[in-house]
Amino acid sequence: MSPTLLVGLDDRSYPIFIEDGIMAEIGADLANRRIAKRYAVIADDLVAKLYGSTLMRSLEDAGIAAELLTFPHGEASKNLHTFTELASRLAQLGIDRKDGLIALGGGVTGDLTGFLAASYLRGIPFVQVPTTLLSQVDSSVGGKTGVDIPEGKNLVGAFYQPKVVYIDTAVLTTLPQIELLGGLAEVIKYGVIRDFDFFVFMEQNLDRILGLERESIQQMITSCCRIKAEVVAADERESDLRRILNFGHTIGHAVEAASDFTIIHGLAVAIGMVAALRLSVANDLCKKQDAGRIAALINAFGLPTEIPRELDRERIKKYLLTDKKTVAGSVFFVLPTTIGKVIITNEVSESQVNLVLSRK
Ligand code: GLY
Repeated sequence: MSPTLLVGLDDRSYPIFIEDGIMAEIGADLANRRIAKRYAVIADDLVAKLYGSTLMRSLEDAGIAAELLTFPHGEASKNLHTFTELASRLAQLGIDRKDGLIALGGGVTGDLTGFLAASYLRGIPFVQVPTTLLSQVDSSVGGKTGVDIPEGKNLVGAFYQPKVVYIDTAVLTTLPQIELLGGLAEVIKYGVIRDFDFFVFMEQNLDRILGLERESIQQMITSCCRIKAEVVAADERESDLRRILNFGHTIGHAVEAASDFTIIHGLAVAIGMVAALRLSVANDLCKKQDAGRIAALINAFGLPTEIPRELDRERIKKYLLTDKKTVAGSVFFVLPTTIGKVIITNEVSESQVNLVLSRK
């Protein structure tokens, strides 16, 4: 098997494989990589039922020793309690420095497993096998790992890169429609922040993508991972360029939190991208026509573009100020200047933010 892409980070560089049905080939490929002696595969209960046996059989067939550890599905599990439970199970199994972890699942599993890999025995290798569109195009690549604490999401974590990422596009057929949509918001984001041609590809292939047509999905995920890999290679620790990946996330995160997470991440990002577009037009940074074209694509995929009327605007503003991306009380926004280019700025007035948050 040859990798689809490479994330270039010197001695921590790693390949990304993107293929339909790759789940059953992972063992054979891992056997040649000699990353670890044996593996603990970590999955939530639902994903373990769907894909646990395919992955475990593939490892077994390749002569790789592995144990499957599960935890209850859902964001509520992404905490230090689950982290401690899993760490204890690793210790009880005698997992040592020559062993590794495999994250089989969506963002919760990838972030939790990555953080466990970063800290257990002060660091053991890990592999990402993302099973949601969102984790395939975003969280499995780039090494952001962590857990939530009561004060906020992802407030405890580490930058820790995987050794390899295996993306099986076939798993998207079992993904609930709402999660597919959530992932598509992040997909559109990549076009807006860095790649006009990819944006046009999304416009032209909307039906094929929504119908999960194999080649279009393959091409779409490859483009997203290519863009993410380029950005991460240039700025692994988000001191500069990587911040562009937060397009739509400033207001998006605040909307997500103010809805008590009843609005899922991707849909909140869609709302946040449209809000950012309005700020961009209000500041004469972006032509109305470009902003309208981006909003039209978001809408055409069936994603929301407006903040729900019932959401408390003051709560949204409170979350804006307590966001991780807020520095010294200054809220930073990623604003498009055209399709494929953005700038990062904190020069957005409170009255403009109020206008964007106001009910129509
Ligand atoms: N999800 C944004 C990043 O990985 O930087």
